[in-house]
Amino acid sequence: MKNLALFASGSGSNVERFVEYFRDSDFINIKLILCNNPQAGVIERAKRLNVPLVLFDRAQFKSDAIVEILQDNQIDWVILAGFLWLIPQNLVAAYPNRIVNIHPALLPKFGGKGMYGHFVHEAVVANQETESGITIHYVNEHYDEGTVIFQASYPVLPSDSPEDVAKKGQVLEHKHFPEVVEQLVKSEQ
Ligand code: GRF
Repeated sequence: MKNLALFASGSGSNVERFVEYFRDSDFINIKLILCNNPQAGVIERAKRLNVPLVLFDRAQFKSDAIVEILQDNQIDWVILAGFLWLIPQNLVAAYPNRIVNIHPALLPKFGGKGMYGHFVHEAVVANQETESGITIHYVNEHYDEGTVIFQASYPVLPSDSPEDVAKKGQVLEHKHFPEVVEQLVKSEQ
């Protein structure tokens, strides 16, 4: 059994998809959710889904506390599912090629510091893109620069609002993210 820890800062719809998708898995266990935002919707989801959640602050995140929690829980893979802070070097070093992120655009477009959530969707609309999509990638110590694992795209219509773009992206995220991670964990045995 491989243990996954999910990091989230917001609503947690991707976290919920992972918990549901792997609920009956005999290979992947969603063991822990970690969150840096006491107002995040993912906190309620974790309670409802009965998955342990660790709430942490920036000081803990910068120390070895988080790596120790992950290692104490025998975590094998770290999945960022809407997590907004840059991953510190000590965590990247503790989980080489075992930290995966999802970004709501076709990286390298609309990536990097400050490009998250509605900022991404507004930029896609402002740039009059005709397509956008999602990127699943390995995480290194720079925002959104790790090796790309998977991308999926959708058409952007001139009439689309940033909210329309966000919705199209979430459909692809919920469809592909758990499946891609499952294949990855199986292939990296
Ligand atoms: C997703 O759009 C994801 O691409 C980005 O953050 C958002 C998280 O949404 N990294 P949710 O909290 O999983 O609903």
